[in-house]
Amino acid sequence: MAFPRKGVSGFAGILLFLLVLSAFFLYAFPAPNLLYLALILFHVGGGLVAALLLVPRLVSAFQNESVAARAGWTMMAVAAALGIVLIFKGTVRAEWNLLYVHIAFAALASVLLLANWLRESGRVASVAATGATMVALAVATIAL
Ligand code: HEM
Repeated sequence: MAFPRKGVSGFAGILLFLLVLSAFFLYAFPAPNLLYLALILFHVGGGLVAALLLVPRLVSAFQNESVAARAGWTMMAVAAALGIVLIFKGTVRAEWNLLYVHIAFAALASVLLLANWLRESGRVASVAATGATMVALAVATIAL
């Protein structure tokens, strides 16, 4: 059930993917309806589970993985910690800066981890291509 030692896959990988997807819909289509509420509950509940699973994954990244993997997992852990702070503080207007920092860390971490996963699984072969993929994903994320 936990993250595998390398890459982003399995249950926790799917959870992380769904968190990013739910974040995208929450951010892009805020609306006072039940679907939005359900998405927030999923994002926060799933985020808590992911935060727990992230701890051993971060430790294993620091034992035997690339700089990109370490940076990606560290940033995702920071995003998760900020998410937990938001859960306790409540995301009210006064805490919007915290929310934006959470979003920035989570989005950058997602880009790094996705690019690293593409490289490790052999979908993108060279270092230059990985760098280009990271830049392209980052630009696409900022454009969103
Ligand atoms: C890893 C564990 C995570 C936790 C514990 C977490 C927690 C939270 C919390 C508590 C909120 C505030 C919800 C509210 O009160 O409205 C939030 C919002 C948000 N999170 Fe996360 N999150 C996590 C992962 C992610 C990831 C991977 C992303 C991907 C980019 C992300 C992006 C966002 C965005 C965009 C919002 C704002 C949604 C809106 O506009 O209402 N989060 N998160």
